[in-house]
Amino acid sequence: MIPSKVTNIACIGAGYVGGPTMAVIAQKCPHIKVTVVDINEQRIADWNDTDLDKLPVYEPGLDQVVAEARDRNLFFSTDVENAIREAQMIFISVNTPTKTYGVGKGMAADLKYVELCARQIAEVATEDKIVVEKSTLPVRTAQSIRTILDASPARPLSSSPAPRFSVLSNPEFLAEGTAVKDLHNPDRVLIGGDEDEDGQRAMNALVEVYANWVPRERILTTRIWSSELSKLTANAFLAQRISSINALSALCEQTGADVDEVAHAIGTDSRIGPKFLKSSVGFGGSCFQKDILNLVYLCRHFNLPEVADYWEQVVKLNDYQKHRFAKQIIDTLFNTVSGKKIAFLGWAFKKDTNDTRESAAIYVADELLQDRAEIHVYDPKVTEERIFADLEYLQQHRSNSCNSSEFVQLDPALIRNLVTVHNDPYEALKDSHAIAVLTEWDEFRAYDWQKIYDAMRKPAFVFDGRNILNREELKRIGFEIKGIGKG
Ligand code: UDX
Ligand code: UDX
Repeated sequence: MIPSKVTNIACIGAGYVGGPTMAVIAQKCPHIKVTVVDINEQRIADWNDTDLDKLPVYEPGLDQVVAEARDRNLFFSTDVENAIREAQMIFISVNTPTKTYGVGKGMAADLKYVELCARQIAEVATEDKIVVEKSTLPVRTAQSIRTILDASPARPLSSSPAPRFSVLSNPEFLAEGTAVKDLHNPDRVLIGGDEDEDGQRAMNALVEVYANWVPRERILTTRIWSSELSKLTANAFLAQRISSINALSALCEQTGADVDEVAHAIGTDSRIGPKFLKSSVGFGGSCFQKDILNLVYLCRHFNLPEVADYWEQVVKLNDYQKHRFAKQIIDTLFNTVSGKKIAFLGWAFKKDTNDTRESAAIYVADELLQDRAEIHVYDPKVTEERIFADLEYLQQHRSNSCNSSEFVQLDPALIRNLVTVHNDPYEALKDSHAIAVLTEWDEFRAYDWQKIYDAMRKPAFVFDGRNILNREELKRIGFEIKGIGKG
């Protein structure tokens, strides 16, 4: 029988979503054993490291959560099969990148890891289990997972019937940098399941898990397809707000309006609301672009080209914004950055995370490198290794970026020649011709800007891609400062 109460949970995928989510479930449910498994041995070793600074995911507060629950009822392991066998409920939290090959290349989600998980569960399970989609997936993936599970190998030597599975969709809405806070106090938890008896039992079991700390009125239950589509829609709406304000930022720059004032003025309308109206060099992160492209692909698949074009424009505008920022730097520096030192403050896609996936910094750097700029990067949390890996990866997968036809592929040796990564921000900024702020880390505001000015080449340009610096103060010191959407 599908369990209606669980005491043993497994999660496949110890990444940015699986790791923190399971850590919080284990923290809040000491009566449930939670095992997080991953095929990446190094990642599991890092999760098990006694030095909590080595956790593979940096999130404020996560170290305390892990310290409290690890080895009590939270375990990290590479033994995927055993974890599946023992668990009554299995979360699938593996990555679902945009496909880089074949049908749907550059648009559709690559579900091969999810499919592998389903096959493995089908092979190993001997008892009825609940399978929870945690990864963001295209609508109707649950159906594919169910098909694979139901075709689980016959067990000729066993007299017991083949195990039954119930598939739930439980998308994660946490934002990186505030993951622990979002998990402790979510706006809502969404659980989609089947309407049959097994589906209802499975949904109840998962509701009971979250009800250990989330008020019941914030736990929404829906049909499975509604839940799957809600995740894509939520991300598309959030990204759309950013592209909308970024579109206006270009107009502000031409007209002398200030985009922050416009955002504030419209955000005080309670129907619009103030959040997600911060104009920037462009949104990044593992979700927004991928989920929108996925939505676009779905719409095209269902022959809804107008709907597809509408959402695709959100991504195009974001590419345009990154390109506009890089172009502004080149134009302002007298039409060439070749041989000039450009300091990058920030590389992560937003503050308080070490995640760099789809970070605007990568695209802006690439565009400046095309013109042979010397880039000196400082980010408080991102490693040198990661930065080079990001730039090299982009050379192979440039298909989605704006104006890709104008770009040449840069050799890794050339990239290493032109890019230097620093541990000390003042070293990165010294002797630079210009500073570009790519991430909104709080510490940037607190720097000694007079000292920085004195150490820079003149005229000293600052391109504030996040509008976080005190413009008046910097102008008074002598900087030439440009922001996003500042006329
Ligand atoms: C998540 C979600 O799952 C994805 O759908 C969402 O849109 C973005 O966030 P995330 O946790 O950020 O992914 O991905 P990642 O940090 O790459 O973690 C996935 C983990 O799954 C990796 O550690 C990888 O090693 C592991 N994995 C992948 C497996 O254990 N088995 C596999 O077959 C594939
Ligand atoms: C997002 C969703 O918020 C989250 O619910 C979902 O589960 C995963 O995707 P995340 O990618 O972690 O979370 O970060 P988010 O805070 O949404 O920021 C995404 C990007 O948009 C960042 O690059 C951020 O800097 C940018 N952004 C955000 C803006 O440029 N302006 C804003 O007003 C808000």
